[in-house]
Amino acid sequence: MRLERPSMKWKEEHAAYRNEWDEDRMIPSSFNWDEGIPYETYLEELALREAGHGKWLPCTNYFLVDDTQRVVGMIDIRHDLNEYLHQVGGHIGYGIRPSERRKGYATWMLSEALKVTDTLGISSVLITCNEDNVGSAKTIQKNGGIEDGSFTEEDGTVVRRFWIKKD
Ligand SMILES: CC(C)(COP(=O)(O)OP(=O)(O)OC[C@H]1O[C@@H](n2cnc3c(N)ncnc32)[C@H](O)[C@@H]1OP(=O)(O)O)[C@@H](O)C(=O)NCCC(=O)NCCS
Repeated sequence: MRLERPSMKWKEEHAAYRNEWDEDRMIPSSFNWDEGIPYETYLEELALREAGHGKWLPCTNYFLVDDTQRVVGMIDIRHDLNEYLHQVGGHIGYGIRPSERRKGYATWMLSEALKVTDTLGISSVLITCNEDNVGSAKTIQKNGGIEDGSFTEEDGTVVRRFWIKKD
C-alpha cells in the first residue's frame, strides 16, 4: 500500500475507480469531475486546485494504490482552514473505492496523511464527518480524533468535528 500523486500513470485506474463510485459526487470533492472531461484536463484542474485557485485553498492530493497497482482510495490534505473548512470540511477529506471498503484502508490512508500534515507543520488536524457516517467517525477515532462541537448545516445535516493533536 502506498500514497501516489495523481499523474498520467493512473489514467486507466482512475477511470475504473470513477466508474465504480456509487455516490453522485466524488469524495473528497477536490477529486470531483464532470463526465466527459479528459483525464489530462482533470489533472490540470487538480493542479490548479492544489495551488489554491478560485474557491480552493492550497491542498495536496493522493491516490491510495495497492500492491496490485489498483487505485483503492483518494485523499485530500488541505494546508489551512477557512470558515467553511473549520465548520464543515476539515483539513482532510477521503474516500475508498466501494469494493475495497471495510478492509482497514481508510484507517491506514488517514494515518499516512497525518505524516504529511506533520511535514506541513499542522499541529492540530481537524477532520469531520456527517453524523450518520459511522465508518468515517471510526476511521477518525482510530487515528486519535477527539470530538469537538458539531456544526449544523442549513439543510439540517449535522457535521461531527474531531481534532487530532500532534504536539
Ligand atoms: C467512510 C469510508 C472512507 C470508510 O472507509 P473504509 O476503508 O471502509 O474504513 P476502514 O475499513 O478503515 O474502517 C474503519 C472502521 O470503521 C468501520 N466501518 C467502516 N465502514 C463502516 C460502515 N459502513 N458501518 C459501520 N462501520 C464501518 C470498520 O469496521 C472499522 O472499524 P473496526 O476497526 O472497529 O472494525 C468509506 O466508507 C467511504 O469511502 N465512504 C464514502 C466517502 C466518505 O464518506 N468519506 C468520508 C467523508 S467524511
